[in-house]
Amino acid sequence: MSSLDTTNNDAPQDPQLVDNPLYVRRKERAEADKPPSRGSPLGAVAASRRPGTNSRKELADSILAEDGDLVAGRFGTVWYKPVTVCGIDLKLEPLQPSIGTVVHGMDLATDLDNPEVVTFVRQLWLQRRVIAFRGQEHLTRQQMVQFVERFGIVGMPFGEKDHVPNSPYDLNQQVRDNDIPNLLVLPSDATVPNIASGWHADATWQKKPPMASVLICREAPPVGGDTCFCDCYSMWEGLSKATKERVANLKAVHIGSVGHQMDGKTPVSVHPVPRTHPETGQTSLYVQQGFVKKFADEHNIPQDEQRALLREMKSQEGRPEFTCRVKWEPGTIAMWDNRCVLHSGSGDYWPHRRFMERLTILDADESRRVPYYRPT
Ligand SMILES: [Fe+2]
Repeated sequence: MSSLDTTNNDAPQDPQLVDNPLYVRRKERAEADKPPSRGSPLGAVAASRRPGTNSRKELADSILAEDGDLVAGRFGTVWYKPVTVCGIDLKLEPLQPSIGTVVHGMDLATDLDNPEVVTFVRQLWLQRRVIAFRGQEHLTRQQMVQFVERFGIVGMPFGEKDHVPNSPYDLNQQVRDNDIPNLLVLPSDATVPNIASGWHADATWQKKPPMASVLICREAPPVGGDTCFCDCYSMWEGLSKATKERVANLKAVHIGSVGHQMDGKTPVSVHPVPRTHPETGQTSLYVQQGFVKKFADEHNIPQDEQRALLREMKSQEGRPEFTCRVKWEPGTIAMWDNRCVLHSGSGDYWPHRRFMERLTILDADESRRVPYYRPT
């Protein structure tokens, strides 16, 4: 599948999208030759690449012409750690000092049959927060489920079953795989672009947010569309001592968006500001601009102080030193730890196509699913 195949823009990436109101609205915008809204990074980046272009078609054609002769290649030095695990030779490529490793040399369809390999991968994942694997395009959706089952319980698209969003205002929920209801399909094309940009951990508005999430890329833009990850242990360490003390016993309110509503009801949960990781014992900052707008009412914190504290905590998000980014190729899989990692899609790739599939993982140990803080 060519990533530049935008010729058939009238057809949605999946027929299930045809009648969705959000899809229809965005498609009407495309048919009216209006560029994507600049309120979305997808529109803002495209506008910055071709300032003054008001025709959507002209904008798309011009960007595609610039990107059309990109070719895939590899050059430059990559530092990696060679290791052999149960006879499998691996190359571990660190993406940034504290976060992110690409594991080269593993076939996720077969190599995890050995429990010792699973233990190795889990330890690496806990240490590196997010790990990625290249060249896994042969994995079927069912094999993705089997991969996830090595590390926990396969969750619903947003984790636990208590709250399963059914909002029409989230394009990511409109494509269903009847055999795998747990799967979230994330389509985006030139006609109806779609991206989850903005720092967040998945579904923290649930009482028991999913332990981990796994994405596989089925179709990637030739440039852009990376997913960025931010290390929440470093975010906690980066706060001033005074702020750490002030927020140590506070709880924050996590509110879902309209796209997370179930039967019109917006999900809300209250979680501690610092979070103890139930496996590593480390403390992460469990506050993010995506879903946290205030502290719990029981604290009676004046509005001015709330704003100042939230601003200070959110200034930790996305600091270059705390982040890594995964550039997607078809067959790249990334698994991250929602207990200590934020992520944000990079909404910069319009009018290219991007097609991803996501599964969530629940902790097999149910007693560890509710976030808690135990000072060390
Ligand atoms: Fe997400």
